This record gives sequence, C-alpha cells and structure tokens, in this order.
Amino acid sequence: MNIILIGDSGHAKVITDNLASCGHQVVAKLDDKYTKLFQKDSCWFGPISEVQSLIDKEQARVIMAIGTNSVRRNIAEGLGLAADQFATAIHKEAIVSQSSIIGHGTVVMPGAVINAAATIGNHAIINSRAVVEHDCTIGDYVHVSPGATVAGMVSLGEGALIEVGASIIPTKRIGQWSIVRAGSAVLEDVEEFTTVTGVPAQVIFKAEN
Ligand SMILES: CC(C)(COP(=O)(O)OP(=O)(O)OC[C@H]1O[C@@H](n2cnc3c(N)ncnc32)[C@H](O)[C@@H]1OP(=O)(O)O)[C@@H](O)C(=O)NCCC(=O)NCCS
Repeated sequence: MNIILIGDSGHAKVITDNLASCGHQVVAKLDDKYTKLFQKDSCWFGPISEVQSLIDKEQARVIMAIGTNSVRRNIAEGLGLAADQFATAIHKEAIVSQSSIIGHGTVVMPGAVINAAATIGNHAIINSRAVVEHDCTIGDYVHVSPGATVAGMVSLGEGALIEVGASIIPTKRIGQWSIVRAGSAVLEDVEEFTTVTGVPAQVIFKAEN
C-alpha cells in the first residue's frame, strides 16, 4: 500500500520503519515546513495542502505522523478526509490480539502488546514496548508512550497522554486530554484535563474549562 505521512519529524521516521516492516511504502511526507512540492529519492515532500492531489496521484492512504495529540487532532480534522482514506501502521513485531479493534490512522510500534478485546480509537499511538491489556478502551488521539503499561479494563479518554514508563492499575479511568507524567503509577481515576505525577500519582495541574 502507498502511504502519505502528515508530518516529517522523528515520529515520521518510526512510522516509516513500521510500514516498511509490513511491505508498505511511504510515497509522500507532507509538512508545512515545506512551501512547495518536490520529489527526492522517489518520495514527495510538500505542504499539507497537497494531500488530496497526492492521494489521487499515488492512490495512497494517509497516516498522521505528528506526536503531539492536540496538534494531530487539529490537523487530522482539518484535512476533511473520510475514515477509509486513512491507513493503520502496525509493526510486524507488535503483538496484537485478533479480538482487539484498532481504529483508523492508529500506529502500533515495535514490541507493543495489545491484548484480548482491547478497543483502540482513531489516530492513537501505541508506542514501542507499551502494553495495553485486555478489555481496555483507548480513545481517539491517545498516546501510550514507550514502555507504559495500561492494565486490564482501563479506559483512556480522548487525547490522553500516558508518558514513558507510566503504569495504570486495572479498571481505572483517565479523563480526556489528561496527562500521566513519566514513570508515574496511577492507582485512582484521573479527571479530564488533569495532569498527575508520582508514585502513587497525585494531581499537579487541572485546567479550567
Ligand atoms: C520532562 C518533564 C520531566 C518535564 O517536566 P516539567 O517541565 O518540570 O513539568 P511540570 O512543570 O509540569 O512539572 C511540575 C512538577 O512536577 C515534577 N515532575 C514533572 N514530571 C515528573 C515526573 N515524570 N515524575 C516526577 N515528577 C515530575 C516537576 O519536577 C515539577 O516539580 P517542581 O514543581 O517541584 O519543580 C516531563 O514533561 C516528562 O516527564 N516528559 C516525558 C514526556 C514523554 O514521555 N513523552 C513521550 C515521548 S514518546
């Protein structure tokens, strides 16, 4: 399959490797750091506004290669594409249960484990060696960072960020757009738009909304 990446940073490099592991090819990397379309080594580079013309030209599908959850959401929604115009990028060395459900645009990095009956939303990132256990519900635009562990039956709201090496014990709920800082252990539910840190995790910030 031909793939267009939106974003051309470090995260795009990892997704390119993911796709190559399954025989897919990145045919374009679009990023607004580029002002005009050009081709180099058989790959197109250019501004994001070129996405539709390249979808048509290359018969390609799209993956958001932007690590920041809110930026990924804003740009994805601004593209105006249908769900089936997005692909997924699941590394061949990720372990993904056949009973799990993976939404469109989602990327699953090497060594990640997604266990039985987990549901992963759209445009999520399940990063290297992250674990999403059985029966979890992971929202759209979530990022489970490298080495983080999300135990069984946990729910992560839209846009939640679970930073590197953090852990969440079974059944807990993390509200939308909340952040679990690196290495924290979450033992209680976390409200929306809230940042927690430490072992056990404590609230250090709650946004007004
Ligand atoms: C780098 C980092 C430590 C910066 O923290 P920061 O800028 O100090 O963040 P804040 O201002 O929100 O910190 C508030 C307080 O919480 C502390 N804190 C922040 N992250 C923490 C953590 N993971 N564990 C313990 N304490 C932490 C800070 O030291 C600070 O304490 P202080 O007020 O006593 O000085 C934090 O952003 C981080 O953990 N980043 C990792 C991101 C990540 O995993 N990304 C995924 C990449 S794939």
